[in-house]
Amino acid sequence: MVSKWVECLLLCVCLSASTSSAPEAFEVVTKALTDYLTSGARPPNLDHALEQYPLPNVLVTGEIKDDSQKCRLCTLLTDVLIMNRRLGMNDVQLASEASYLCRTMKMATDRVCDGTIKNNLDIFTYMIDNNEDMTGSRICRIVLREKECDSGSENYEWTIDVPPGKTVERTKTNSSTTFNILHVSDIHYDPLYTPGKTNTCHENVCCQDDQADGELAAGTACGYWSDYYNADIPFYTMQETLRQTTTHNFDYVYYTGDFVAHRVWSTSVENNTRDIIAVTDQFKKYYNVPVYPVLGNHEPHPVNLWSSDGVDGTISTQWVFDLVAEQWGEWLSEDAKKTILKGGYYTVSPRKGFRVIALNSNLCYITNWWLINDSKDPHGQLAWLGEQLLEAEKNEESVHILMHVPSGNSDCLHTWGREYRRLVTRFSNTITGQFSGHTHRDQFWVYYDEEEPSKAVNVLWNGASVTPYSYANPSYKLYQINTETFDVFDLEEWTFNLTLANMYPSREVDWYKLYSFKDAFEVDTLQPNDVDGLISKMLKNRSLIYKYYLYKFRNSDVAVASGCDESCQKSLLCDMVTTAYDDTEHCEKIKKLYDENK
Ligand SMILES: *[C@@H]1O[C@H](CO)[C@@H](O)[C@H](O)[C@H]1NC(C)=O
Ligand SMILES: *[C@@H]1O[C@H](CO)[C@@H](O)[C@H](O)[C@H]1NC(C)=O
Ligand SMILES: *[C@@H]1O[C@H](CO)[C@@H](O)[C@H](O)[C@H]1NC(C)=O
Ligand SMILES: *[C@@H]1O[C@H](CO)[C@@H](O)[C@H](O)[C@H]1NC(C)=O
Ligand SMILES: *[C@@H]1O[C@H](CO)[C@@H](O)[C@H](O)[C@H]1NC(C)=O
Ligand SMILES: [Zn+2]
Ligand SMILES: [Zn+2]
Repeated sequence: MVSKWVECLLLCVCLSASTSSAPEAFEVVTKALTDYLTSGARPPNLDHALEQYPLPNVLVTGEIKDDSQKCRLCTLLTDVLIMNRRLGMNDVQLASEASYLCRTMKMATDRVCDGTIKNNLDIFTYMIDNNEDMTGSRICRIVLREKECDSGSENYEWTIDVPPGKTVERTKTNSSTTFNILHVSDIHYDPLYTPGKTNTCHENVCCQDDQADGELAAGTACGYWSDYYNADIPFYTMQETLRQTTTHNFDYVYYTGDFVAHRVWSTSVENNTRDIIAVTDQFKKYYNVPVYPVLGNHEPHPVNLWSSDGVDGTISTQWVFDLVAEQWGEWLSEDAKKTILKGGYYTVSPRKGFRVIALNSNLCYITNWWLINDSKDPHGQLAWLGEQLLEAEKNEESVHILMHVPSGNSDCLHTWGREYRRLVTRFSNTITGQFSGHTHRDQFWVYYDEEEPSKAVNVLWNGASVTPYSYANPSYKLYQINTETFDVFDLEEWTFNLTLANMYPSREVDWYKLYSFKDAFEVDTLQPNDVDGLISKMLKNRSLIYKYYLYKFRNSDVAVASGCDESCQKSLLCDMVTTAYDDTEHCEKIKKLYDENK
């Protein structure tokens, strides 16, 4: 989550109609912007109009209230910039105009406005300069996920060819021998983390060395290990976590992405490279088994952007692929390196009958500007995935899929999520586990058959996060995997109480096992039908939902204090069954059942 709108870009005007603004203010601001577009010059009342309709910190909080007008405003603001470019503004002038709009509407602090604009300007102008028909609504349609934004013929719709054939029968086994896999996710190593700074900073990440000091008494001072509010982790918290994980036995490590901190307004190729290497080096130091990492949306500079095939020069993000192909090389085959260089994805077979497929699902991220240029299966990844799964099916292999952004996430382009899910359904018996990150939550999703919607066919497990960002205790997962089928036999979640650890920084961190899935939820197996059965059980037993809620945040004090009311419970259930954004069928059904079970 978190990163949702937090990482919004200069034009991603995630508009929240501030309740203080009267409807007239909206009319005034849209009229002024329309005048600007018509005349080609700032109308005299522009300052005043923009000030009357502030979008306070929208780039940071990302809070969008349901505002049917947001598309209109986003489109107008974007069109103003496109027009100015077409009228001949150079990069410096355009940056200055964008900064004026961002600052006057208070979309973020001045330095966050300017840093975000600086990072994204080259790509924005590239899009405008190379596409005569680029429009504000085409951009807003994708970043706001609004069908109401009319983008002409461009509706970001496409399909991939799913290999023909039917899901094969699973190999059955009576064996209950297992081995372990460690799942670590979302470290977000922050070199600038500084205890004692304020945790209420109104920027994308707090506890930075160049931010104000916090007040211990008021509870606004960032803790030693990290902080519940918008905070990532210092080097020693990463080390402490990796050290703790090595107290278990495991054969492989899955790392589901996000090496780099949330200081999104001031990323750079040099600093991201440095931080990705720093984390990878720690993996090499602590683990003597293979690590299978995937890329997160925070790895590129600027954040979230993955350039289309054939783009080169300074706006290309090829350097990320080059970097990790080399850095992760010791765990990967030469073939795996080749596909990493192509699109950041790869496959390896760690042992006979077992295949790991690591995706770069960040390509589906809606604030990945490049989708506006070309959204169809970027870097041919899904087509490739289909081929790999078909090959695995033929060879009777069991597959684990790793990815950063889960397919049902609201940050993921619905078309990508839907097409991915078609592959999961087709190969549901070959895929014996899916593993993701990004949301920073301990959670799972159940995938259902498309032709037989009541039939659960697969489960995706999220790795939660090492960073507490936001409101959670740091954690990691340990899976027991069946040695013959490679099914997930059981899982454990480990964590520590951040409040307590920060109270006594010199004491040893008191890690504990939060729960084991089978025990905690009283299920026989972690197979799709049993996990689906658990959801049915939750509908009849609210305390089970509450348990899931607490685990989701790893018992963090913030989560305990805020609790989970009925609407929170419903949205938890809805999330569990939403595996492609926009497909609300299962969600609506489950909400109805929830209400009936009151
Ligand atoms: C599994 O166990 C059942 C009952 O104990 C037995 O009938 C069956 O043959 C066994 N299957 C395999 C593959 O060993
Ligand atoms: C890169 O990191 C250094 C040291 O952490 C910092 O001083 C510098 O401002 C960063 N560069 C950018 C572009 O933010
Ligand atoms: C994407 O950008 C390239 C220029 O780099 C352009 O040739 C191509 O037409 C664009 N694609 C779309 C779908 O607009
Ligand atoms: C975490 O530790 C603090 C300080 O000891 C305590 O007040 C709090 O109740 C603990 N939280 C939980 C969920 O146990
Ligand atoms: C409901 O779930 C709770 C928490 O797991 C459990 O303790 C309780 O026995 C369940 N109640 C029923 C009626 O099954
Ligand atoms: Zn993350
Ligand atoms: Zn992420």
